[in-house]
Order: sequence, then structure tokens, then C-alpha cells
Amino acid sequence: MPEEMRRIVLASRPEAEAVPDNFRLEEADLPRPAEGEVLVRVTYLSLDPYMRGRMSAAKSYAPPVEIGGTMTGQGVGEVIESRSPRFAPGDRVLGITGWADHACLPAEALRKLDGTLAPELFLGVLGMPGFTGWVGLSEFGRPRQGETLAVAAATGPVGSMVGQLAKRKGLRAVGVAGGPEKSRIARETFGFDACIDHRAFTEAGALSAAIAEAAPDGIDIYFENVGGMVLDAVLPLLNDHARVPLCGTVAWYSGGAGGAQDRLPMLWRSILVRRLSVHGFIIFDHYDRYDAFLEEVAPMVEAGRIAHLEDVADGIESAPEAFVAMLKGGNTGKQLVRVG
Ligand SMILES: NC(=O)c1ccc[n+]([C@@H]2O[C@H](COP(=O)([O-])OP(=O)(O)OC[C@H]3O[C@@H](n4cnc5c(N)ncnc54)[C@H](OP(=O)(O)O)[C@@H]3O)[C@@H](O)[C@H]2O)c1
Repeated sequence: MPEEMRRIVLASRPEAEAVPDNFRLEEADLPRPAEGEVLVRVTYLSLDPYMRGRMSAAKSYAPPVEIGGTMTGQGVGEVIESRSPRFAPGDRVLGITGWADHACLPAEALRKLDGTLAPELFLGVLGMPGFTGWVGLSEFGRPRQGETLAVAAATGPVGSMVGQLAKRKGLRAVGVAGGPEKSRIARETFGFDACIDHRAFTEAGALSAAIAEAAPDGIDIYFENVGGMVLDAVLPLLNDHARVPLCGTVAWYSGGAGGAQDRLPMLWRSILVRRLSVHGFIIFDHYDRYDAFLEEVAPMVEAGRIAHLEDVADGIESAPEAFVAMLKGGNTGKQLVRVG
């Protein structure tokens, strides 16, 4: 058993874009589990766009990480010491480990990962992001066969789940992704009918024309992952009674307009005259359905009927750079960090 652990703490709050200097790698004494706790050796960490929000002191749906505090996040790993009857050394678990190579957590905060699927899949396609796509599409997208769906960040773990589920339900799926290679992956790996490279456009009108060509019957579901210029381009294409599951606005997480113009009156008027349903949701409110999601989707992943892609950075020290790059599209697939 090691005597020390390594962790990444928040060194400073970003002014606008997050930079690697906002983080610091630290060593600390390895914690020992108290009664009811479990010590986990972390094998993979998840990097997710929501963590940019935790770096900011602005009021949100969850408290910020304190300066000097360990960055929050989910990880998977192996139990190396247990003071709970629920876990034994060698068990594979999922929990909020933070950006650290070891974590001491109460047993009830951990989920045991049985079965043959690789634990790291429970951070992506079978974890919070995949679950988010499943809940958002089924509950707030209310998909119907023959309709058209559009989603950006189409090769990420949320967007790729949304696109694949939409195709399975008989919709036309139009992706938006950054760059020709990601657009190819969206079509060939994830089965999107078309994918538009938003980085090839400098203004919303031209992007809108390209999306319109790929969605000749208009858009019935816009699964909102990004905001920014993509939202600006999609808004005029929404059909009457379109649904907008409002999942994320990553183009705006660092502040600024992210390529969008100020179209607040147009947005408000569109919601009225086209009778749009815009529904913001945070996945933490829906975890009572996580088992139902796993029951439905895990067999499809195991059988290769739902594709997934992971982008793995090596070593805990690589987390800050991988995270900063991910916010700007540097990842292709679910961004993970292989620890140790
Ligand atoms: N509501 C919830 O509970 C919940 C839960 C999970 C995730 N989310 C949100 O869902 C969204 C997707 O999450 P994810 O984990 O699947 O992320 P991801 O796709 O792995 O990574 C974010 C992606 O956003 C895209 N992006 C960044 N800036 C952009 C811009 N200006 N315009 C268009 N696209 C841009 C980039 O892809 P390209 O290179 O393809 O542009 C980047 O790879 C995020 O907004 C996230 O915050 C919400």
C-alpha cells in the first residue's frame, strides 16, 4: 500500500477560458478508511464540461470547488481496503472520487460494477453522459418515428448517444461536429444521416443553410448541447411544436457570445409562434431511472449495437491540459484520464 496519494486541486478561478495554470498537482498522505468507509485506487477519471462551472464561484445548481480543494468528478477503480461489509478488496467501483489517484469514500456513495464490461464505460456511454442523452431524448425530446433530430457535439458521449437512440427510433439524425474528421466519425461510427462541420462556418446564416440542406423537413427535436452559433443557426429551422431538451451550452461556459448574435427577441418570439417546448434538465434529478437505463442500454453496448468512443489521456498530471482542450473540442469521444 502506498503512503501518499496524488490529486489535482483548483489553484485559481479562470477569468474567461480555463487554463492549465488554474490547477495544481499535489501530494498528500494516503487517507485511511474510517468505519463504514472504503479506500479506492482510482484507475480512470472522467473529465466533463460541467466541471468548468465548478471552477467558477457563480451561483449554479451545485456548489463551486473551493480554491485549494480537489477538483470534483467521477472515477472508477478498485477497492484496496474496506471497512464496510458491502465491499471487499478487489471490488470494482464507481463514485465521485475527484481528480485523485486514491479516494476514501463512504460505502453508500459507491456503486459496485459487476459483470464483464470495462469499468471505464460507466464514465461514458453507460455513465452519466450516456444516461443524460437517454433521459433527455426520451423524456424531453419525446421522439416520434419519421421526425428529424439535430444535436451538436455529435461525437461526444452525450451527442453520440442521442444520435444513435434517435436512429433506433426511426428518426432522421443530423449531427453538428467540429471538423471533417469528427463529422466523418459521426456518420460512419455513430450512424448520423448527415453531419455538418460547424468550424467550417464563420457566421450563423451559412451554417443554418447547410443544416437546412441536411434537414429538408425542418427540425422536430433540437437536443441542445452547445448554444453559441449552432443554436443561432438551428433556431430558424425548428418546426411547429419542436422540442428542445436543454442539456448544455458549452460554447458559453467560458463567457462571451460563442459566435451567437443577440437574438433574444427572436428566440422568445420563436418559442411563442412555433409553440416550442424548451425543457432544461440536470441529470442529478433523474438518477432514480439509472438502473432502467442500464437495463436497456448495457446489453446493446455489450452486443456492439451502440457504438462508443473514448479519448484517453495518460496520467493524472495530464488532466488539466486534457480538460482545457476538451472544452474547445480537443477530444474525440468521451474524455477519460487513465490514472497511475
Ligand atoms: N444537463 C446535464 O445534466 C448534463 C449532463 C452531461 C452533459 N451535459 C452537457 O452536454 C454537453 C455535451 O457533453 P459531453 O460530455 O458529451 O461533451 P463532449 O462532447 O465530450 O465535449 C464537449 C464538446 O463540445 C463541443 N464544443 C465546444 N465548443 C463548441 C462551440 N463553440 N460550438 C459547438 N460545439 C462546441 C466540442 O465538440 P466539437 O469539436 O464537435 O465541436 C467538444 O468536444 C455539454 O454542454 C455538457 O455540459 C449536461
